[in-house]
Amino acid sequence: MKGASLVNLDIHGDKSGSLIALEALSKQVPFEIKRVYYIFGVSDNIVRGKHAHYNLKQLLICVNGSVDISVEDGKNKEVFHLDRANQGLYIEGFIWREMKNFSKDTVLVVLASEHYNEADYIRDYSQFLNEVKDK
Ligand code: TYD
Repeated sequence: MKGASLVNLDIHGDKSGSLIALEALSKQVPFEIKRVYYIFGVSDNIVRGKHAHYNLKQLLICVNGSVDISVEDGKNKEVFHLDRANQGLYIEGFIWREMKNFSKDTVLVVLASEHYNEADYIRDYSQFLNEVKDK
């Protein structure tokens, strides 16, 4: 879907283990990183997210455990199952997202292009659908 795609992250690995390095303004992270947050300790029946952003680019990486991320542009919906540290989900543009089916050990790391700004959120789904129509 335009606005949400999987990104493979290169592993530097040998028998001593694995390392993944992410740099701003690279192929994997095509934005300046202004914020990093991580989500963990989520019960399996919880749905998080349930919002869209007007102006935010994010790379979501499930560095441990697994989670399903559903993305919707107002017409199409797609679900990405994230379960490895060397894969990210890049989301940009006006996309409704929900995170569900967290495993007990899930750690979801998010790199974001902007500082936290509640004014950049739409948290009402019907408002999202209305605004998609107007775009
Ligand atoms: P929320 O956006 O509801 O999380 P999710 O989309 O995963 O369901 O955020 C949860 C709380 O954390 C809310 O009080 C806002 C706060 N928060 C910050 O202070 N900074 C941040 O960067 C984020 C993402 C959330």
